[in-house]
Formats: sequence, C-alpha cells, structure tokens
Amino acid sequence: MKIAIPAENHPGEARVAASPDVVKAYIKKGAKVAVQSGAGLGSNISDDDFKAAGAEIVKGDAVVKGADIVLTIRRPGDKLLKAMKDGAIVAGGLEPYGDRKALEAFAKSGVTGFAMELMPRITRAQAMDILSSQANLAGYKAVIDAAANYGRAFPMMMTAAGTVPATKVFIMGVGVAGLQAIATARRLGAIVSATDVRKATEEQVKSLGAKFVYVDLAEAATAAGYARELTAEEKAKQSELVASHIKSQDVVITTALIPGRPAPTLITKEMVESMKPGSIIVDLAVERGGNCPLSKPDQIIEHKGVKIIGTLNLAGKLAGNATPLFAKNIANFLDLMIQKDGTLRIDEADECISGTLIAKGGKLVHKIYEAK
Ligand code: NAI
Repeated sequence: MKIAIPAENHPGEARVAASPDVVKAYIKKGAKVAVQSGAGLGSNISDDDFKAAGAEIVKGDAVVKGADIVLTIRRPGDKLLKAMKDGAIVAGGLEPYGDRKALEAFAKSGVTGFAMELMPRITRAQAMDILSSQANLAGYKAVIDAAANYGRAFPMMMTAAGTVPATKVFIMGVGVAGLQAIATARRLGAIVSATDVRKATEEQVKSLGAKFVYVDLAEAATAAGYARELTAEEKAKQSELVASHIKSQDVVITTALIPGRPAPTLITKEMVESMKPGSIIVDLAVERGGNCPLSKPDQIIEHKGVKIIGTLNLAGKLAGNATPLFAKNIANFLDLMIQKDGTLRIDEADECISGTLIAKGGKLVHKIYEAK
C-alpha cells in the first residue's frame, strides 16, 4: 500500500497532511510513504525530517503516482487529480460545502473522497475531528491577533501613574474556537463575556470564569451537535441583546457557523458604529461570509475607528502545531481502514467512514448533495 502526501498549493497554506511521526506509524503498518519535496517547509518540517521517518521524497505531482491513498489539507486541483490512479482514496480537508461544480469535477476524476470536515460528532470520532483540532488553534490565534492590533494592554495594571483598566472581550459563538478564545483572553487578564444560542454552553462559559450573555430561545442545538438557524423573531431578540452589550466591549471575537449555510450576521454596521474607536472585531466566520457584513477575507479594515480583522485560515498561521494535529486526525481515521495485514478495507457500515465519504465511482455520494 502506498500513501502519498503532496505539497499544498493553495495560496498561503502552510500546513501539510502528515508529520514525521505519522509517517513512521504508516510505515510500521506496512505502507510505503511518498512525500512531495518541500511539502513540510511551511510547518518547519524539512525533506530530511520526512526522509529520516522513512518517507521517499519525490519532486512535483509525481508524488501521487500509483498511490492508493493521498492525504491533503485542501481539496486537490485538476492537475494533481489527473496524476492519481483511478479509485485512489483522497482523505483530508475537501471543503464539502464548497463550489458544487468543482466538487463534481473532483468526483468525476474517479477518486474515492473522504471529507474529514463531515466527521460525525460522536465521542469515538473526537480523535479524528479536524474541525476541532484546527478551531482550537484558531480561537487562540484570534485573541493573540486582537491583542496585537489593539492599542492597549489586556490586563488591569495598577501603577504609580494610574490604573490601566482591563480590556473587555466578548466572544460570540462558544464552540471549540470560542472556548479556546475565552480561555486565552482570560489568561491575558481580560474581562470576558460570551454568548451562544446553545444553552449547554452556559456552564462551559462560566467554568472558564467568563460571564454568559444569553437570549432565551427554544433549544437551538441540533441532534448533530451543531446550532440550527434562528427564526426571524429569534434573530431580532438576539440582535437587541447584542446591540446593548457590544457598546461597552473593547474586543469582539465572532465564531458562529452553521454547517452548509452562510454564517449568521451577528454584528450589524450600526453595532460596529456603536463601539468605541480603537475597538477590535475578529471575524472567524469570514470564510463563510462573516458574522459581520463589514469584514473582508484576509484584510484588516477600519470602520469609524473600529478595526475588523478577517484573517483567513487562522489555524494555518500556527502550522507548527496545526500540521501535527491534522496529521494525527487523518492517521486515526486511516486506522479504521488499514488492516493488521497492511491491506485496505472500506467498511461503509462504520458511520465515520460513511459519514465522510463524499465521492465514489465518479459521483458525489453524500446525503448533503441530495436535492432538497
Ligand atoms: P461551530 O464551529 O459549528 O460553531 C461555533 C459556535 O457558534 C457553536 O457553538 C454554535 O452553537 C454557535 N452559533 C451558531 N449560530 C449562532 C448564532 N446565531 N449566535 C450565537 N452563536 C451561534 O461549532 P463547533 O466548534 O464545531 O462546536 C459545536 C459543538 O459540537 C460543541 O459543543 C463541541 O464541543 C461539539 N463537538 C463535538 C465533537 C465530537 O463529539 N466528536 C467534535 C467537535 C465539536
């Protein structure tokens, strides 16, 4: 069995889908591993590091030639797909809610594609969850970027020349990224508050020493563990609460996402204008349209003195951590398929396998692609 790890060619993508540790583990299981020359450089992993782990280093797209499994951070483009053998397994970040035409072309290439973003939210799947491992880092980095762009200190400081007040940080959306953002802002000494539509987050917010700001709604958590879209009336209620709270906040970090839907608008232009000049907004949902209509992908814009940070791929900015975690998530997933004798078996009765399988036999096969 041959496993290939191509270099990512998406602009600004520093991560790679394997680390030397997982390469060693694949080889121990009887696989041959090929890594594209330079693939690890963005994560400070040299070709020699991969070679020392037992990988063969190959130049260019030839890395995937004859590979049974190709591991990726992002969905491969046409050129790389053409270099793969028919029926090769592609596992990794495949952006399953992305552009439909590009997804159809991906399926048509004949690969068997597993989109790790669709991993079911069950306890057993936690070790394979790329969204969690990456969102955790993104939540941390969002606070660090906010602090770096804010013209004041986060902690309260009492000095002979006067008292520096603590920064007030408000986190909107308390999933994996939001929880890490709360913890990071607290570590920096900020006064933190947070909101979510899932009532279960109240206890988590409080356990991290932050104040919970909540609109009383009917349960908004779906059976899959995600948030549902709010009704117009619920949105109005939430908006009223946010408008009154946000005025007094210095830093706002938004992380609210709804799978397969545009990100919900949480901060309107009027709310931005109600904030003090010098305040910061970090919009983690910018890739999916943003939680604030003013945020722009990969830009820091200033609106009436408020800076709105829309950096894309925050986890990728910490590639030194993001790569080994992502790599381990995929390795745990492949463990479901690689048998003790080194052969491959795809058991579609396993919900982690069927739940992530998006392309097979030239077609998109996941239920998210069924016409509604
Ligand atoms: P996410 O990235 O899908 O969304 C971020 C947060 O935004 C969520 O907490 C969501 O409730 C919130 N949100 C959505 N719409 C909102 C709105 N209009 N206003 C305010 N907040 C809004 O969430 P993430 O980080 O993936 O986590 C969701 C839950 O799933 C968490 O409880 C997490 O622990 C759980 N989870 C479980 C896993 C497992 O068991 N294998 C794996 C990953 C997450």
